[in-house]
Amino acid sequence: MRKRPCWHMIRFLNANTAAVGEAMVEMAPADGGLYRRGFAGDTFNTAWHMAQALGQQARVGYVTRVGCDSISESFVAELRADSLDATHVGRDPQRNMGLYLIELDGVERHFHYWRSASAARQLAADRGALQAAFSGAGLIHLSGITLAILAPEHRENLFAALTLARQSGTVVSFDPNIRPRLWKSLDEVRQVIPRALANCDIALPSFDDEKLVWGDAHPSATIARLVGQGAVEVAVKDGAGPIAYWAEGAGAVLPTPVVGSICDTTGAGDAFNAGYLAARLIGQSPAKAVTVGQQFSGRVIQHYGARIPKSAIPALP
Ligand SMILES: Nc1ncnc2c1ncn2[C@@H]1O[C@H](COP(=O)(O)OP(=O)(O)O)[C@@H](O)[C@H]1O
Ligand SMILES: [Mg+2]
Repeated sequence: MRKRPCWHMIRFLNANTAAVGEAMVEMAPADGGLYRRGFAGDTFNTAWHMAQALGQQARVGYVTRVGCDSISESFVAELRADSLDATHVGRDPQRNMGLYLIELDGVERHFHYWRSASAARQLAADRGALQAAFSGAGLIHLSGITLAILAPEHRENLFAALTLARQSGTVVSFDPNIRPRLWKSLDEVRQVIPRALANCDIALPSFDDEKLVWGDAHPSATIARLVGQGAVEVAVKDGAGPIAYWAEGAGAVLPTPVVGSICDTTGAGDAFNAGYLAARLIGQSPAKAVTVGQQFSGRVIQHYGARIPKSAIPALP
């Protein structure tokens, strides 16, 4: 087993990535009172941007469960068409994909969800299937949303599969992405999130979430807590504020560039994660990875929806 001292330099076995979580059907307002059907979800958005940015440099797979219906088929077809590996998308004959609808109220956006019985909630029902999905990956990426949608016994399957993967050298990245309404209580969040931190290497939180759950006074307090809980590399997103990060045993702060023409901040954190992780996978330093993350998130907030149009995806350094 690889030694994990209190800090170490992260080394990836390879650039292949397995992101795990839930993608939902998205109904987004379009002209004339119509809705456009798409697919979105936090870890899926990250995986999608990584696949577009990395191209031939890595295989990026999405690990989830969908139904056997035609919409689920369309999702898998779209994954493949966009060069994601769909080998570990499980099928559930009894369930289908979760759905959310975006309601516009002036510039405010309200999200309505139908996801409580989605197929993705069963994504960790089979520990062996998860282990197979993670086997050989250089990086596994998951989030607090991935954990929130799972039954407690299925979370144990996921933690066991992460532990096994890390024992063979896979790096795990985790975005706590706290969504209180997906959890029974903030106490449950405080019990479960540390389990994930103990099973991760890279933590990519947002300060607002951390402040809410843990009362952190400052991003440096978030870093200290997350490093104490097991992460060795941390970048704390904070909207337009600077990014505080910790890597290789030292901390630093980088300003966030001003972004003009912001139209929709949906998916900012997910796009940041994609840029950061893609840069790290191709050998860039944590400091450079922060600037690449900022480039991706800066770009996504200049467009509607959670994904950057393919033609506008920043090139990796
Ligand atoms: N108003 C903004 N101006 C410039 N960059 C922003 C702004 N809002 C978000 N970003 C970029 O998106 C990243 C993630 O945003 P944040 O709101 O902290 O995450 P989340 O979407 O997870 O809540 C930030 O680190 C920053 O790079
Ligand atoms: Mg977030």
